[in-house]
Amino acid sequence: MMIKTPPMGWNSWNTFGWNINEKVVKDAADMIVEKGLNDAGYEYVVIDDCWSLKERGNDGRIVPDPEKFPNGMKALADYIHSKGLKFGMYSCSGSRTCGGFPGSFDHEFVDAKTFAEWGVDFLKYDYCNKPALMNGPILYNRMSMALKASGRDILFSACNWGCDEVEKWVRSAGVHMYRSTGDIFDNFESFKNIAVSQTDKLAYSATGCYNDIDMLIVGMHGEGNVANGGCSDVEYRTHFALWCLFQSPLMIGCDLTKVSDVNLEVLKNKDLIAIDQDPDCRPPMFLRNDSMLVLFKHMANGEYVLAFFNFSDKEDWRDIELYDLGITEASGMGFRFKELITGLETGLVKTHFASVVPAHDCRIYRGILTDK
Ligand code: GLA
Repeated sequence: MMIKTPPMGWNSWNTFGWNINEKVVKDAADMIVEKGLNDAGYEYVVIDDCWSLKERGNDGRIVPDPEKFPNGMKALADYIHSKGLKFGMYSCSGSRTCGGFPGSFDHEFVDAKTFAEWGVDFLKYDYCNKPALMNGPILYNRMSMALKASGRDILFSACNWGCDEVEKWVRSAGVHMYRSTGDIFDNFESFKNIAVSQTDKLAYSATGCYNDIDMLIVGMHGEGNVANGGCSDVEYRTHFALWCLFQSPLMIGCDLTKVSDVNLEVLKNKDLIAIDQDPDCRPPMFLRNDSMLVLFKHMANGEYVLAFFNFSDKEDWRDIELYDLGITEASGMGFRFKELITGLETGLVKTHFASVVPAHDCRIYRGILTDK
């Protein structure tokens, strides 16, 4: 199974945590279609931890909690599929999930078969409570092969928080996306630190197996399971743009029945999503990595992106010498950019290029290299 661009969807954890049920998941599926998010590329509806009973059934299988999911998982999968969407679930490589529910350790093949029978298209696989002597490569390789043996195409999403140098072995284990950091919380410092922690790891992320810098907090505004202060609308846009420049999977984490129009427009931003979904998946160069992050990225269609992220608390600017990208004055070459947040067009930019960026905001220039 080849996953050609970073997966996009919705996951229950950031807002709902333990409080998940059939209605919450169906509402999310309804909203993805009604609000045009499916058209924008979002397709997976993923139930995270806390969906099952605390013990397996007599047949050794995990049992969905009948109070939360009275019609079972197959019916829910059918509903999600009837909307043209795909269905995701969660388990753990240890004996218990992070929330204390049964994990798949030593039940990998029966669990994968069960998920396949239910119509699951995506499995997020966590790292809590694993036996001390087992290592990540074995556990993820095992479940990856169990999913392949299940008879159904199931996207495999690893979640070991970047432990054990995951980026060096995870692609070999057949995984399609892998969490590279601890959990995100709904505030500026959290998403900034997560992004900065991966600036030297993006070269490992490529088509087929993507560095997942965690689910989005756009639109949470301090409410829900990972609520922690909230962000301004500008900060949510900066967060979304960063995830797109890093070509992370885009898993929405807010309550879509309550999301504001402003935040919805961010989640549906075509220009930013086009960067996230660029089929070439080239890691950006980091021209500055201080209180302003400046990235330069080659796009599949021959265009380039130059992006400025201002992490400081006041307006700031950086001046980039084109020579640092290999463009000499004598070559006569320069960039013609369009800025994707303001819509501003730059004209022909030669020798150097400065951008002024408001606090916690970003400017994303996309364009061509030309002598005209
Ligand atoms: C871990 C993961 C989270 C979430 C919880 C569920 O912390 O990193 O994304 O899945 O477990 O318990």
